[in-house]
Amino acid sequence: MPRDFVIGQSHKTTRPILQAPLGSLTSPELVAAVSGAGGIGSLALTWTNPAAAAELVARVKALTPAPFMANFVLSFKPLALTAALEAGVPILTFSWGLPGALVRTAHSFGAAVGVQVSTVEGAQRALDSGSDFIICQGIEAGGHVQSSTPLRELLHAVIASAKGVPVVAAGGLGDGADIAEVIAMGASAAMLGTRFVASAESLAHPAYKASLLAAGKADTVLTGCFDGGWPYALHRVLRNATLTAWESSGSAPVGSRPGEGDVVVTTLSGEVIRRYSDMPPVSQMKGDPLACCLYAGTGVGKIKEVRPAGDLVKDLWASALLALGSP
Ligand SMILES: Cc1cc2nc3c(=O)[nH]c(=O)nc-3n(C[C@H](O)[C@H](O)[C@H](O)COP(=O)(O)O)c2cc1C
Repeated sequence: MPRDFVIGQSHKTTRPILQAPLGSLTSPELVAAVSGAGGIGSLALTWTNPAAAAELVARVKALTPAPFMANFVLSFKPLALTAALEAGVPILTFSWGLPGALVRTAHSFGAAVGVQVSTVEGAQRALDSGSDFIICQGIEAGGHVQSSTPLRELLHAVIASAKGVPVVAAGGLGDGADIAEVIAMGASAAMLGTRFVASAESLAHPAYKASLLAAGKADTVLTGCFDGGWPYALHRVLRNATLTAWESSGSAPVGSRPGEGDVVVTTLSGEVIRRYSDMPPVSQMKGDPLACCLYAGTGVGKIKEVRPAGDLVKDLWASALLALGSP
């Protein structure tokens, strides 16, 4: 039974729990807390400018000597990639596209590479380009969902084709029993996103965190509703008034959706977020945060409290070990 998650020669972690990149909800404190507790945290640098990305990498390094990751969604140009590598990020992950030659670039800086995939063919192509590990995303995932296949089905097939390269399971994992299940299936680690949104260090608005605690599995929906900023990419969210009104309009097209153009929240600096934006609400936004895009995976029903992320890593792995029968 795998216990340590080892990437390449140097990155070894004692608790094989990875924090998924969480877009604008990610903080250096969250990443460092997860990595410091023996898991691996992840920055989300897709929408960050190069100078700010270098600063974020430096802040995590100042907080912990442990390895951590930075993610780039390849639907967008990875503008901060070189800056992150030059700042010394030890592990990169890519999603929504295959990195191809970017793997060699990362390796030339000594960084390891993981690629999130949703098919065996995608995994194979990622491995052919030299990726050090694969992240296998199931349709249960919160946030933007590449996958159309249930996690357990896809995981079997990807592990079988990966020829010993570590495979990380992602999508709908909410507690230690879920983590134990994918480890028992042969995954080298579990990646959790929604669970870490409901952590003390995530930047999510308190009302969003509270709605995650109150929700059950049946409250998540895979939809194209919140397409502002990233069209043509399905996402799994909590049902809310914006989604219900849109569906009640017959899922009206862009330009004639209910409440389109409404400002739903305003940031401290005065930036406005409009209805149907893909931006989730962050702390200190004013307005109606629960009308925003509330990303959540199907494991949300297992989240009962907001916890410090380091405690989460330790407790999740302790209960996974119990479920595996080897405390
Ligand atoms: C709020 C939120 C933001 C996310 N942002 C990113 C991101 O920036 N890049 C990315 O590759 N995946 C992102 N994801 C998807 C995760 O990588 C991962 O596949 C997913 O969280 C796993 O499912 P779970 O949320 O059910 O644990 C995000 C997920 C959530 C919930």
